[in-house]
Amino acid sequence: MVSPETAIVSVMHPSLTVLDHPLITHRLATLRNKETRPPAFRRALDAIATMLAVEATRDFTTVDAQIETPLETTSVPVIDEEAICLASILRAGNGLLDGFMDLLPRASVAHIGLYRNHETLDAVSYYFRAPSNLGDKTLLLLDPMLATGHTAYAAIEKLKSSGAAAMKFVCLVAAPEGVAFLEKHAPDVPIITAALDRELNDKGYILPGLGDAGDRIYGTE
Ligand code: URA
Repeated sequence: MVSPETAIVSVMHPSLTVLDHPLITHRLATLRNKETRPPAFRRALDAIATMLAVEATRDFTTVDAQIETPLETTSVPVIDEEAICLASILRAGNGLLDGFMDLLPRASVAHIGLYRNHETLDAVSYYFRAPSNLGDKTLLLLDPMLATGHTAYAAIEKLKSSGAAAMKFVCLVAAPEGVAFLEKHAPDVPIITAALDRELNDKGYILPGLGDAGDRIYGTE
């Protein structure tokens, strides 16, 4: 059954999907806990990434493949993995990437290097490497934290200017401010998140959040 909170969120934010599942909230508790060290943090993130990947690919088209079971020949629907590109916003996006690559090992991978200017909160680009035929791919853009939305939007624009068309943005925790920003500036990009948190603080961190995702994943606090 859809919870009343989820129903309200989907009315307010039609392009947003919040994965409302006890297995997600259970692992999010581990991620939010400041005592969780990087190894346990990465394991919990990996588990949620797998669940996000299941949701993000729900409407992907399949093609029929003929296979032999031990008993007969049959036609089975399969995903054309090579038509998918996973795009990771460095460096925290790599924390979600592994779980997605496990499920889609033949997908190509783009890396987008952006960092936040802590004064202006603007995204600054320092690296971009993607397959040349981005226009032929369905993209899943990965970054654990959707805070102001500026970094996600800069990555979306970078991918679009490199030929990308269809894409979804997948994150772990979203702030209402970031969701509103993307809905305004990139309304064609659906957002999938494991949690929609309360707000941003004046430094651009998500509350209650989990701190700096990159630092928590790689132990660089
Ligand atoms: N990026 C993070 O890693 N954490 C936040 O809370 C906001 C942006």
